[in-house]
Amino acid sequence: MGLNVDLLRESFALVIEREPNLTHRFYGILFSRYPQVKPLFGRNSAEQQEKMLAEALVAVIDRLEDASWIEEKLMAMGAKHVDYGVTDAMYPWVADALITAMAEVAAADWTPEHRKAWTDALDAIASLMQRGARVYCADRPDAPALAAQAGG
Ligand code: HEM
Repeated sequence: MGLNVDLLRESFALVIEREPNLTHRFYGILFSRYPQVKPLFGRNSAEQQEKMLAEALVAVIDRLEDASWIEEKLMAMGAKHVDYGVTDAMYPWVADALITAMAEVAAADWTPEHRKAWTDALDAIASLMQRGARVYCADRPDAPALAAQAGG
């Protein structure tokens, strides 16, 4: 992926150490900036959802160099997200909320290099999830209206 793996790991560790509840903060920012996504959530309790997101992020950060694992997991996760009603347009919102939450926690230690490293990583994650979504929709013409919105 050509990502700045050291910077990603180091900054994630710093942020989690300072704010173990990062994902709680993330959802607060996501729902206040993009209230339109709120109705998509609710299958699981907020607490459960926060835990799943944190675990997914840790798993991805841990295996950043393992391209085939990343590809397989993220494409499968993207397919599942089709059924949650997630569209391509929403991925930048999630990236924005996550980067904002991390920048707030890291405060004076957050640099333009951090922003760039995280933007690149979340772009790469989104691309793979969106690819998985597209494959899933192609296999299942009855998948929610997403095929049209995904746009190719
Ligand atoms: C960085 C990209 C993302 C990651 C790593 C991620 C991760 C996860 C994980 C681990 C789950 C738990 C269930 C599962 O494994 O499928 C989940 C569920 C979910 N995600 Fe994501 N997600 C991402 C992007 C998005 C986006 C862009 C949206 C759109 C708002 C979204 C909305 C949801 C919803 C609605 C659920 C189900 C919530 C519920 O159970 O109530 N996710 N996500």
